[in-house]
Order: sequence, then C-alpha cells, then structure tokens
Amino acid sequence: MHQDLRTAVLCGIGTCLPPHVLTNTDVTRLGGLDTTDAWIRTRTGISRRHRAGAGTSTGDLAVAAGRAALDSADAGRADLLLLATTTPDRPCPGTAPEVAHRLGLGPVPAFDLAAVCSGFVYGVAIAGAMVTAGLCARPLVVGAETYSAVIDPTDRDTAVLFGDGAGAVLLRGGERAEPGAVAAVDLGADGAGCDLIAIAAGGSRLPGTTPRLSRESRYFRMRGREVYGHAVRRMTESSLAVLDRAGWPPGSVEAFIGHQANQRILDAVADRVGIAPRHRHGNIGEVGNTAAASLPLALAHAAARHAVRPGARTLLTAFGGGLTWGSVALTWPAAEPRSQAPARRGSPAPRPSSPA
Ligand code: UT7
Repeated sequence: MHQDLRTAVLCGIGTCLPPHVLTNTDVTRLGGLDTTDAWIRTRTGISRRHRAGAGTSTGDLAVAAGRAALDSADAGRADLLLLATTTPDRPCPGTAPEVAHRLGLGPVPAFDLAAVCSGFVYGVAIAGAMVTAGLCARPLVVGAETYSAVIDPTDRDTAVLFGDGAGAVLLRGGERAEPGAVAAVDLGADGAGCDLIAIAAGGSRLPGTTPRLSRESRYFRMRGREVYGHAVRRMTESSLAVLDRAGWPPGSVEAFIGHQANQRILDAVADRVGIAPRHRHGNIGEVGNTAAASLPLALAHAAARHAVRPGARTLLTAFGGGLTWGSVALTWPAAEPRSQAPARRGSPAPRPSSPA
C-alpha cells in the first residue's frame, strides 16, 4: 500500500539520558580500579557517562527516547517498534512489546534486535526495508541500553568504557531528495569472533540457573585489544562499501558519526575512509560507549547544536559483539531532536519533551 514511496526518511529524533553522571574518577573509586582519569581520557576520549541506577530499566529509557522521537516528528503514533538492545529488561519476553504498549501504540508489531553495538544500524536497515516493501509506514527504531546492569565494576577493561542511555528515530516513506533520506545500507557479521565480546552465562549454553556461576561468566567481558583491530577494519570496509553503494565519493561526506567506542578507533576509521576532521561528530566524551544507543545519541547531540546542514551527505557506521557491523548512508535530517527523562513504569501520563 506504500509502494510508491522510494526510500525511508528519518523524520524524528529522541533521546533519554538518566540524570546521574559518573566521572572517570567516580568509576575508578567505585571499582577500586588501577587506572587514572588521564589514562581513560587519552586512550578512549571518555570523560564521563550516565548511569540509570536501581529501579530504572532499559525499557524505561526506551519509552522516554521513543516518546521524544515521536514528539520531534510531531507524530502521535508509529506502526512498528524495533528495539535494539543487548541489555533487555529480562531474557523473556522481549522488551519491545511492553515499550510499544507504554507508548500507547496499540497492537503494532514490536520486537527486540540483538546485534550489540551494531543494533541501531541493523534496526534502521530492517525498518527502512520494511517501509520500502510497504510493510509499515512509520517505524520507530530505538537503541537503548543499561550496561551498568551487566558491567563488573571491578573490571578495568570494561568499567571505564560503558554508559547507559537511549536514542530513537522515527522513519517514514519519502523521496530520495528529502533531508533524512536513506541512500544505502551495508551490514555484516562474523561469528568466529563471538567470544571476543560476551556475557557467557544466562542463555541455553550456560543457564543463569547454574549453581555457583563464576564472576567471569556472569558479567560482560570484552577482549579490548583484539576487538580494537576488528573494529577499525570492519567499520572502514563497511563505510567504503556503503558509500560505493550510494555512489558518494568519501570526500563528499559532510557528516561522519561512528559508534562511540573509542575516540582513537573513530579517528582511525575516519582517516582511512578519507573524512576530514571538521566533518567528524560524536559525544563519546560525555556519554562513553552506550552500545546500541550510541549512534542515535551522537546524531541527536550534533543535530541539537545544528552542527550539520539538513540534506548534507551523512555516514553512520558501527561495530559490535557478534561480531557484527554495519553502515547507513543518508542525508542529514531536518528534525529537531527532543529529549525526555526516564519514564516510570506504571506512570500513565506522557511527560513533555524538551530540546535535546
Ligand atoms: O563497543 C564494542 C566495540 N568496542 C570497541 O571497539 C573497544 C575496543 N577496544 C578499546 O577501545 C581499547 O582496546 C581499550 C580502551 C579497551 C584498551 O585500550 P588499548 O589502548 O587497546 O590498551 P591495551 O589493551 O593495548 O593496553 C595497553 C596498556 C597495558 O599495559 P602494559 O601491558 O603496556 O603495561 C594495559 O594493561 O594499558 C593498560 N591498560 C590500562 N591502564 C590503565 C588497559 N586498560 C587500562 C585502564 N587503565 N583502564
């Protein structure tokens, strides 16, 4: 029924960052870590991150970001909800149906997507394809994470990196010439690296009900140095592939946003792809690595500052556990981002959104 529409257009952007902020020094003190603020800042670019705190779940952040994205698009409704997350409210059922219910979307399709830090680009690719196939008209794609629930505060390799938050975008059908139009996508995965970023326990291989689970298996673990190399290689290759598919020379890209994993990784990818420093955008310093929420949060951050003109050629690229990776080539959206405080479960009244 929507067959005349030629592509998906990003028409709303919403965010939710929990109010509690932890500096590098706070994280170091909390976990008794052998590290320093200077090491974390120079080796990762991270200065602080947000923490959800007890009682606030990924679903609470997703509801708030989703509502803010609907407000940003001046839209009351979405007809599909896709939640990219690796930190769902519980292993079963998926978190997306409850988020859709709390947003008052009615009986729309809603599902979780677990592609770790690549979840948002996977989500935009799938939702965009569903728009062009005529399967939905206004999908809401949310990336939301509460990594504080799975991070070992005493693990120096991960505790300094991750933060909590959510970002969401609303898509609709439209024309390729419109600001926000998706021009091309590229997705990939390599399960040979599935143990490099993992929570070992809690699934069917090592059930969470197993007695005396080791600390090692209960928490999120990442072999950072090995992941670093894969991240640079895969995001570079995927970026070049998506630009080739879109027919855009790298020099024509005016906005580059990569998954906010590590500033040194982002610089290495942008250098290799050929993106000038003035066209690189991100907010890793303020939010750290928020996994599936990373790209929409960085997009909202740049859009709120009007750092890029609507219609400018834009490259989003991500890499994460799985291993997974992906990129989206789109033009910069015209939407004004909105933000909301975390939603409280059981609270019926939508709160007003504020500028992001
Ligand atoms: O979101 C999914 C994708 N994630 C990523 O892409 C993250 C990829 N990895 C990284 O960002 C980086 O590898 C880390 C930030 C995790 C680590 O930084 P690095 O520059 O790769 O450090 P390294 O592992 O090569 O270690 C260099 C040194 C070592 O000391 P020696 O052996 O040279 O004496 C480490 O023990 O830095 C030490 N080190 C630290 N020192 C202080 C490692 N982590 C820390 C730390 N504080 N937190």
